[in-house]
Order: sequence, then C-alpha cells, then structure tokens
Amino acid sequence: MSEPNLKRIVAEKAVDDYVKDGMTVGLGTGSTSEYAVKRVGELVSSGFKLKCIATSQRTADLAQSIGIEIHDINDVPHIDVTIDGADEVDPKKQLIKGLGGALLREKIVAAASLMEIIIVDSSKLVEKLGVRTPLPVEVVIYGHRKTAYALEKQGCKATLRMSGGVPFVTDAGNYIYDCKFEAIESPFFLESRIDVIPGVVENGLFLNTANVVLVSHPDGKITIME
Ligand code: A5P
Repeated sequence: MSEPNLKRIVAEKAVDDYVKDGMTVGLGTGSTSEYAVKRVGELVSSGFKLKCIATSQRTADLAQSIGIEIHDINDVPHIDVTIDGADEVDPKKQLIKGLGGALLREKIVAAASLMEIIIVDSSKLVEKLGVRTPLPVEVVIYGHRKTAYALEKQGCKATLRMSGGVPFVTDAGNYIYDCKFEAIESPFFLESRIDVIPGVVENGLFLNTANVVLVSHPDGKITIME
C-alpha cells in the first residue's frame, strides 16, 4: 500500500473508532493528521455536533475550509479525544513530535485531552527515540544561538530550522532547533536537562502522553499499541 494510503487508513480508523457525537475533539497537525481532519469534516457534514480544537494555524485553516468550526482551547473544560501524528514511536509509546513545527500547541492540547490517540505508519516505529529523526526544540528568538549552544552540550548537533531561506517561525513566534542525537538513551533525563535551559519554550519529547498508538503496516493491516 502506498504511503498516502497508509496515512489515510490509520487516520480514518482512529476517527471512526474514537470520535463520538457530542465530543470535544483535538485536531493534530501533519500529513497523517490531515486525513483525520478530513474524516472529522465528513462527520460534521453528516450531522455530528463536535467542538474542535486545532493544534496549529495550518490545521485550523484546513478544518475551517471544510466546514469545521474551530473553538478556542480556553473556552472548553477539557478535550475528550485528540488524534495526532508523530515522527517516532518507541516500544513504550514514547514519542518524538514536532517535525511539522506545531509541537508547542500539540503538547498543550495533549495535556488538556482525556485521550491522546497517535496515528502513524510503521516507518515511524523505532527501538530508541532519536535514531531516525532529530528532536525539535522550540526556542525564543532572543539569544537563540546561546540556547543552541546549551542544547549541544546535551550531546546533539542543533540545526536552526529554515524555510524558504529564512528561519522557520512557529505559530507562537519562536524558532526551532532540530537536535540530532545518535540515540536518546534516557528520554526523561534528557527532557529534564533541556527544559531548564533558558530560552527553551518546549521540546518534542512527548513522554507518557499517548494513550493509544494506531499503526498502519505495508500490507494494509492496522495494529494497536495500548
Ligand atoms: C507536527 O508538529 C508534528 O508533531 C506531526 O505530528 C508529526 O511531524 C507527524 O507528521 P506526519 O504525519 O506528516 O509525518
């Protein structure tokens, strides 16, 4: 099965299995999540009353373009279920997210969610976090090179994310450094070290965040990590 189809089938299964009429739903960001947003749009068109929260401006724009009303996260008591993608998933359901640049809102939305459902194809599965992708870290613009220097002291190569020849700017007006480790041996320890660096806004380690991970495989089967 082609990569777009693997993303689509896992996204549609997540929406079909976990989104019920009347729920408040968090909408993730990324190419896999886009298929989930489109499926949620179909539910809304068919009469479901859903309150939707977006994890990025990009997702809000897509949702609104297909008739989904987007609510302010501050106006809902909690989010029933959020469906989002990931860049890496380890055997304990620990994640790296943020290659799409939305990690800050994604983490805030995940923390406000009763259930966080992660949708990936099997290419995202790793034995150890960090082996496949860099760890995105969102930093304030002021003094960002000093912040990057402190990040590199944690054992990575930190590269400022660029877009169209200029630094990529997040929805919150920050920069992102993509921090490439050989592998992240102790994700909880690393997170505690990164979070105390002045200038760091958020990191892409999503630890003990996923309740369920749905994984699509090349043969079209979908497995569930609970
Ligand atoms: C967005 O900031 C990310 O966390 C995405 O969820 C992640 O990059 C997965 O994106 P794809 O589904 O496009 O791989």
